[in-house]
Amino acid sequence: MATYHHDVLIIGSGAAGLTVALQLPPETDVALLSKGQLTSASTYYAQGGVAAVMDQKDSLESHIADTHVAGAGLCHDDAVRKTVENGPDAIRWLIDQGVGFTRFSEDGQQGYHLTQEGGHSHRRVIHVADATGLAISGALIDQVHQRTNVTLFEHRVAVDLLHDTTADGSRRCIGAYIHDSRHGTTDVFLAKCVVLATGGASKVYLYTSNPDVATGDGVAMAWRAGCRVANMEFMQFHPTCLYHPKAKSFLVTEAIRGEGGHLLLPDGERFMHRFHERGELAPRDVVARAIDYEMKRLGADCLYLDISHRPADFIINHFPTVYAKCLQLGIDITREPMPVVPAAHYTCGGVMTDLNGQTDLAGLYAIGETAFTGLHGANRMASNSLLECFVFGKAASEHIAARLPGMSQPEGAPEWDESQVTDSDEDVIISHNWDELRRFMWDYVGIVRTVKRLERAQHRIDLLKREIAEYYSNYSISNDLLELRNLVVIGELIIRSALKRRESRGLHYMLDYPDMLAEIHDTVLVPDS
Ligand code: FAD
Ligand code: SIN
Repeated sequence: MATYHHDVLIIGSGAAGLTVALQLPPETDVALLSKGQLTSASTYYAQGGVAAVMDQKDSLESHIADTHVAGAGLCHDDAVRKTVENGPDAIRWLIDQGVGFTRFSEDGQQGYHLTQEGGHSHRRVIHVADATGLAISGALIDQVHQRTNVTLFEHRVAVDLLHDTTADGSRRCIGAYIHDSRHGTTDVFLAKCVVLATGGASKVYLYTSNPDVATGDGVAMAWRAGCRVANMEFMQFHPTCLYHPKAKSFLVTEAIRGEGGHLLLPDGERFMHRFHERGELAPRDVVARAIDYEMKRLGADCLYLDISHRPADFIINHFPTVYAKCLQLGIDITREPMPVVPAAHYTCGGVMTDLNGQTDLAGLYAIGETAFTGLHGANRMASNSLLECFVFGKAASEHIAARLPGMSQPEGAPEWDESQVTDSDEDVIISHNWDELRRFMWDYVGIVRTVKRLERAQHRIDLLKREIAEYYSNYSISNDLLELRNLVVIGELIIRSALKRRESRGLHYMLDYPDMLAEIHDTVLVPDS
């Protein structure tokens, strides 16, 4: 077991973590961790693009207004303004890092192609065909490899945060226990500042668009360290994931609807106009709920998304990833509709931060999907989340850089103690509890909720928590056990928040309370209360 010392420890190598690493001054000694490879992150899979005002016919005020409307009145105006106003600069920074956004190839038009997505009243989503995340990850990882001040650690799983008490009696974060999943050891990483950039928690649901790493580790760690968590009831379900036994988690980008795609019932009828005046381009919560409603009404396994009325070369040029994936499964989207279902996609709530990404614990920052900045309100608007990573990642790095010179290096922390545990001979408990948790979250805490279902889920969480706590204190840790321990915290935070909100707003739809209340409030959970 080793102890590592750095100025800044960044946990996570998605858009948020990479941005902080690259925006910190080059003299900062940085450790950047990933739970798997550097590309094991939602960022890598992002399709649609990044929302920012890049067209003269568009305006910052329009982007701000659309974000507030999608967020159903719960977005914090300061976070929205900060994100939107810094959007164009963030895009220029990405271009400087080498991201080759798609340019116009038609009509002799100049500049970057902007696509349209749900909730946006203008074309404002800049993209790299339908593989924007791949291009952004690639460019930022190339840049980070060139930085001699950044040490990269792959296959390292943060277990828990370390904190000490300063001379004035206040607590500050000084690092984390980090498990090396390939060698089975657990090390101490000490740092003056720690950045949680661990992404979302959608793996708590049985069906999700997210990669395996999205188990809410940052939220669970911050919660255990005493930080407040907000608005966890607002879990976003993406309306269109491919429905196919061999296409687990594959997302079909909203940009397909932005470029004219139609949602269809099994008999070929369009239906979205019955739910919202913007039809297929209604905010995401409305579309996901409409699909869920129609599937349940008709007893259908899936509905359909059709873009085959657009020219084949347009479809292949704009959506090469979706086209290739579907073709591989025997579906030619230039000729036929694709089967789609909603799946858990984005965690709107998270660790509470200020506009610099600072959490309640001194020295601890949270950036990206793991954070709650107030930007997304009750429903994140499409393509605002990557933008948040770049804008808040820059703000946090500036805030950290200004404070580092006055901060002392933490002296030490106890080594990870394994003397009381043995190797498990019953890993089936972990796999069983993983499946059980994700299934009841899907069935009882999904797109449409009731008090009865939520209470049923809470009861099961209580049982799982006890079983997992006992297992954790008796057996050596593994990645699966750590993730399960975190997921059960996430499940509990979602259910507790959902039970507190006695209304339907944005992504939180309660049959018992179908109306939206006039009073506006966040759901803030405080540890040990
Ligand atoms: P991530 O990119 O998820 O990175 C999290 C990092 O933390 C990973 O490196 C992971 O390995 C690491 N990590 C997690 N836990 C630990 C731990 N315990 N120890 C060490 N490391 C850990 N948003 C848009 O704005 N536009 C889009 O077009 C878009 N498309 C999307 C398509 C898909 C399929 C998905 C899943 C999401 C999409 N989103 C999109 C959402 C967006 O991609 C994410 O919200 C964003 O990428 C989150 O970035 P992040 O850096 O916060 O987290
Ligand atoms: C998509 O491409 O549909 C995903 C966009 C997003 O989640 O913001």
